[in-house]
Amino acid sequence: MIGAENISKIYPSGRGVVNALSNISFSTPEGATLAIAGKSGSGKTTLLNCLGGLERPDTGSISCFGIDIHALSKKQLSLFQRQHMGFVFQFGNLLSFLSVSENIAFPLSLNKVLNKKEINNRIAGLLEKVELSELSSAMPFELSGGEMQRIAFARAIAHSPKMLIADEPTANLDTETGNKLVKLMFFLAKEENCTIVLSTHDRDLIKLADKTIYLLDGRKIADE
Ligand SMILES: Nc1ncnc2c1ncn2[C@@H]1O[C@H](COP(=O)(O)OP(=O)(O)OP(=O)(O)O)[C@@H](O)[C@H]1O
Ligand SMILES: [Mg+2]
Repeated sequence: MIGAENISKIYPSGRGVVNALSNISFSTPEGATLAIAGKSGSGKTTLLNCLGGLERPDTGSISCFGIDIHALSKKQLSLFQRQHMGFVFQFGNLLSFLSVSENIAFPLSLNKVLNKKEINNRIAGLLEKVELSELSSAMPFELSGGEMQRIAFARAIAHSPKMLIADEPTANLDTETGNKLVKLMFFLAKEENCTIVLSTHDRDLIKLADKTIYLLDGRKIADE
């Protein structure tokens, strides 16, 4: 289970104090898909960053599979992220100086669980699943936006994380390509029993998720 309890985050800024998150609590079972919805500035990215351990909330706790991630040391947290979490961001996911297969290999080589041959097999399998086998030696600048996001997704799940965090992964894609990507994400995540938490503005995507949390000005106004 992934759970947040009374998460708050305040940013001091030139315009005064911003209550980016106020007392957010929720939980989602392992293997489920959770969407975070809400208009621009409502706190979606802040919440995802706190869930993924990229930012520390001012109050409250976040538990991922029984571990209070913000109670971990910096080193323990980065090991936990490397082993159990995958990230897909809105832009700039791929390392521009590495080929498609080198990008996917990157988290696998950090974790040192698989040998070279196993890594190559895993990459080939993932590229097949995202239907981009022919691009294995392409460089990121040679890809379309949708192709980049499919590769970013393949890389994010390459090490079989327990949890995938995706911040508006379809925001710069057309509706059809975006829907296809999310369907694929949900399908493959179920196959691997990976919990997905993603933020989106897209009503079609919200319908596909097991649960949706709606944010407004940092507050949770509904879940369904
Ligand atoms: N580092 C920061 N310093 C100051 N204020 C911040 C910072 N990061 C975010 N904020 C503010 O916190 C609020 C929530 O921002 P957040 O990025 O979480 O919103 P969002 O829902 O992801 O928006 P969008 O849909 O535009 O991506 C906004 O008012 C934003 O301006
Ligand atoms: Mg955002």
